[in-house]
Amino acid sequence: MAVRAGGGKVSRIDTLINAMTLPEKLGQLTMASGSYALTGPLHFADPSDAIRAGTLGNLLNVVGATEVHALQHIAIEESRLGVPLLIGFDVLHGHRTLFPVPLAETSLFDPAIWELTAREAAAEACADGISMAFAPMVDVARDPRWGRGIEGPGEDPWLAQRFSQAKVRGFQSGNLAAGTSVAAVAKHYCAYGPVMAGREYASVDISERTVHEVHLPPFATAVAAGVAAIMPAFHDLAGVPMTAHVALLRQWLRDHLGFDGVVVSDYNAIGGLILHGVAADLSEAAALALNAGVDIDMMAGAYLSGLPGALERGLVQLAQINTAVYRVLTLKERLGLFDDPYRRGATKEAAAMLGPRRALARSIGARAIVMLKNERAALPLAQSLRRVGLMGPLADAAEQMGGPWPAAGNTEAHVSVLAGLLSALPQTEVRHAAGVALGGDGAVDAQGALDLCAQVDVIVLCLGEAALMSGEAACRTHLGLPGRQREFAEAVLERAGALGKRVIVMLFSGRPLVVPWLVERADAVLACWFLGSEAGNAVADVLTGRVSPSGRTPVTWPRCEGQIPIFFGQRPSGRPANPADSFTSRYLEAPNEPLFAFGHGLTYGSFVFSNLRATPRCARREETIDVHVDVLNEGTLAAEETVFLFAHDRVASVARPLLELRGFAKIFLQPGEQGTVNLRLPAAELCFLGGDLTVVFEPGEVEILVGPCAERARLLHTSVQLL
Ligand code: NOJ
Repeated sequence: MAVRAGGGKVSRIDTLINAMTLPEKLGQLTMASGSYALTGPLHFADPSDAIRAGTLGNLLNVVGATEVHALQHIAIEESRLGVPLLIGFDVLHGHRTLFPVPLAETSLFDPAIWELTAREAAAEACADGISMAFAPMVDVARDPRWGRGIEGPGEDPWLAQRFSQAKVRGFQSGNLAAGTSVAAVAKHYCAYGPVMAGREYASVDISERTVHEVHLPPFATAVAAGVAAIMPAFHDLAGVPMTAHVALLRQWLRDHLGFDGVVVSDYNAIGGLILHGVAADLSEAAALALNAGVDIDMMAGAYLSGLPGALERGLVQLAQINTAVYRVLTLKERLGLFDDPYRRGATKEAAAMLGPRRALARSIGARAIVMLKNERAALPLAQSLRRVGLMGPLADAAEQMGGPWPAAGNTEAHVSVLAGLLSALPQTEVRHAAGVALGGDGAVDAQGALDLCAQVDVIVLCLGEAALMSGEAACRTHLGLPGRQREFAEAVLERAGALGKRVIVMLFSGRPLVVPWLVERADAVLACWFLGSEAGNAVADVLTGRVSPSGRTPVTWPRCEGQIPIFFGQRPSGRPANPADSFTSRYLEAPNEPLFAFGHGLTYGSFVFSNLRATPRCARREETIDVHVDVLNEGTLAAEETVFLFAHDRVASVARPLLELRGFAKIFLQPGEQGTVNLRLPAAELCFLGGDLTVVFEPGEVEILVGPCAERARLLHTSVQLL
């Protein structure tokens, strides 16, 4: 009997499924590592035999057209059915050319750029034979102890939705079959960010409302944008591992959202179901995952070895296996792999592309820098400077600039801050002394650096985390400077203070750091995250004023670890903080306010907002409200300002967060210039989940707040009436 797993007339895919043996079907549901181990042990040292036997249909971590095509030839010419391989890889923020890490790129608040870098990354990845990118990571992250916040768009779900949409568009370009498109994989589904105590792979136990309001929306947006695949996260949600989560995978993702793409497990996550304590053996684990709707088993070998037993025991049906195979083959077909399995990697990337891509990485890098503080006119550096003292362990650390997921990035070609400054300041003498090790107990060799303080006009101190202190499996309990950097920085600040020299701190990290002492004492502090291949040039562009900084932090910066989790979208308390009243929502030893609010970021301009207006004043659900605000640059330098639009529904059937992000825009103004920013707010964006978690639009007054960051005191406000 001919199977029609996808329904309709018998297609190439149906014909193939009908011809497949069970091991061949399971091969299509299996992904194993090639030669390039990124995050775990290799299962198949050499995948050739399995590909030839038809028991391995998908690979990860094989990079390079020659390697990929060699394996593809085996699949096409030497396997019985000649089904092409799908090749996945972590293409998180660029491929060979590295753009700023995703958290840094989010600081641009520029969806067109987010899309563009995904497009460029896809082109480079395709040239290497890759057809699936394990990206974008769209997990909302509100606990900076967790290392993976660096891989995604920060703390806000609305922002994460914009990011998610832009990245899916960029990777897939609306035409998966194109030789420069890859299948995007939205990950890690879902609510991975709130792992218990900020510890990687730990359990998550949060309300269903928070799952639906905060963590699912970026995935719903990815699905709406046509994402090809979704990867469930490693953790369990209140006892149910995401890899086996029927309610969220099968019912919500597939049935409710109508997602008919591929669900690919995370690395050995199906095997992990045994350790989670929900499966006794690989057959049970495989059955749980398949029943939840997971199509591809990455690196557990559980489908291949466990599903035959599961079938015999009646834990799964053959029809489910056929459906999963159908989805995988459909994706391969949509990617054009059946028509031309060698399309990706057929033509070498033109060397001419390298220059423009590096230029793009440089300009985005500069725009991703968030200037947290700039006093005593420390920046931009004066043209008249004769000598700059460049210090700190990250000043000459090209290898660190790519961050924790350099993947196939060309690390040797990264530009260090030292190299960037030397080329940007040919007339100025740049003297360098690291002064201290990046981490550990590395002896403080501060003397050379301290001596330098007297010889130079200004000090640029490059401090922060090592690249591998964030990313997967890189959680921290203390979010200060690692090793003996604080000791060193304090000595430099003291010496510089005594000499009357300005100290500019460039802070590299994969998360907001807890450094209030540093922010208080330095003249300028700039969050540089990890800026990728062109990091040093990007830093130099901002320091010299060639680029006016415009990045805004997509995460709140705490004053101390005790404030974590800290984010602007908190709900109101029935006893709001009041310093004059102890029985209010506050701490004994620290204020509630963060060190820097979400959206904070200074420029070389100075902006004043006025004349906020919203029309119409009354709106129905299908109407759009136009919000206008005037912005004046009172400063002496041209700069780009970012304008945020927040809403607050003061009286609702379910308490709403104190601020909800609903828009942002940018305006570039010359000194003395004024402009008007228009933000369009569809009233439907003011819907929320009612008491029964279904979408409601409640009539009544909604506050509209506009300004430079999520600090209520700095926002102008008006209101609209919902009808
Ligand atoms: C594990 C990580 O959680 C995931 O983000 C990544 O895509 C896979 N490994 C593959 O490298």
